[in-house]
Amino acid sequence: MNPIARPILTAAGLYLLTGLTPALASADDPMTEEAKQIVKEFAGQLLSELNAALESSGPVGAIAVCNERAPAIAAELGESSGWEVGRTSLKTRNTLLNTPDAWEMQVLESFETRLADGQPIDTLARAEVVEDERGRVFRFMKAIPTAELCLACHGEHIAEPVLEVLDEHYPDDRARGFKVGDIRGAFTLSKPLSD
Ligand code: HEC
Repeated sequence: MNPIARPILTAAGLYLLTGLTPALASADDPMTEEAKQIVKEFAGQLLSELNAALESSGPVGAIAVCNERAPAIAAELGESSGWEVGRTSLKTRNTLLNTPDAWEMQVLESFETRLADGQPIDTLARAEVVEDERGRVFRFMKAIPTAELCLACHGEHIAEPVLEVLDEHYPDDRARGFKVGDIRGAFTLSKPLSD
C-alpha cells in the first residue's frame, strides 16, 4: 500500500473495502496485505494453468492440474513467503489434504451466513490472531466463488468421463452440486508470529 495513503485509511474504511472484522483490520495491518497478495498470486496462477489445461485437454485432462499443481503452487508460494498456504471447503474433494480444522470450519460457516445476509462473495475474508500449538499465529481466509468454468468438475451435471476419473481418485468426493455464485471453498493462510 502507498504509505502516504495509509493514515487516511481508517479501520472502518478498511472494513468496507475488505469485509474484514473491524477489530482486526487496522490500517497498520501489513500481514493482512501480505496474505491478500499471496492469495491473489495463488488464485491467478491456478486459474491460468486451469484455463490452459481445459483448453488443451478438456476437463478430464485438467483434473491433473487441480490434483498436482494446486498443492505444488501452494507449496512454492509458502516456501518463498514463509506462510503456510492451502485451500479448504465445507464440502471437500481431497479430504486428506483440504479438510478444515475447527477455526477454518467456523470461518467457512460465517462466510455462508454473510453471503446469505447479502454480502458480496468477493468481500468475504477474515483475518485473526489465534493461539495454537505453534504459539500465536496470524490466520487469514478468503472465500473462493464458484464460476462457470468450475462447473465441469464441481457442478450439478458433471459429464460421465469426468465423473469416472473423479470417482477413481476421490472416493469421498463431496465437492459436487455447486452452482455459479456458491462459495466453493476458501484460501487459507497462516504464519506464526514471533513474540
Ligand atoms: C478439471 C476439473 C476441475 C475444474 C474445472 C475445477 N476443479 Fe476444483 N478441484 C478439482 C480437483 C481434482 C480437486 C482436488 C485437488 C486435490 O487433489 O488437491 C479440486 C479441488 C478444489 C478445491 C480444494 C478443496 C477441495 O474440495 O478439496 C477448491 C477450493 C476448488 N477445487 C475450487 C475450484 C474452483 C473455484 C474452480 C473454478 C475456478 C475449480 N475448482 C475448477 C477439479 C477441478
